[in-house]
Amino acid sequence: MNLDWDATYRQARKKLEDRLSDYRLLHSISVSDVAAMMADRYGVDVEKARIAGLLHDWDKNLTDEELLTRAKRFKIELVSAGEDMAALLHAQTGATAVALEFPDLPLDVIQAIARHTSAAPDMTDLDMIIYIADMIEPLRSQGNLTPLRTIVGKVPLDYLFLKSFEMTMEHLIRRHRFIHPDSLKVWNSCIMRERH
Ligand SMILES: [Fe+2]
Ligand SMILES: [Fe+2]
Repeated sequence: MNLDWDATYRQARKKLEDRLSDYRLLHSISVSDVAAMMADRYGVDVEKARIAGLLHDWDKNLTDEELLTRAKRFKIELVSAGEDMAALLHAQTGATAVALEFPDLPLDVIQAIARHTSAAPDMTDLDMIIYIADMIEPLRSQGNLTPLRTIVGKVPLDYLFLKSFEMTMEHLIRRHRFIHPDSLKVWNSCIMRERH
């Protein structure tokens, strides 16, 4: 079946207006734009990147209680609590909720949404693009993102992801934040890829 990407984008944006704060909606649009630009540069499906970027924070503005209820309903395993839980869980609950809301979206779009916080050891190009676009979109101001932004399109995508993930890990350690148990697997898999 042929998906009408523009109509889906418009429909998704309209629905997001009722789900997200003004800032979160602008961030989502910005991630979508950056993801589409990166997909074009790295030879990845631009429409998939555009819609995954737009929808990646579908559940970001839910309360902890709402997230927990959703996680229970979707049988998602909890690995942390408090602030860290919300920061990690919205990706997985959001991905499942988006799949139910937009049943025609391809599974790789859903997977990229699910992996945008904790990542995964076998990230696809689309997964990496959404992860990186979420970090470097122009509305983000925390941290020094200039070194990352300036190498987009100039270095291989694997390397760009490694540098982004390195920054996330450093940030989590410095702030004494919870690290998802799978993150170490992701890090080791990046290092192994870099060596081969
Ligand atoms: Fe997010
Ligand atoms: Fe985000």
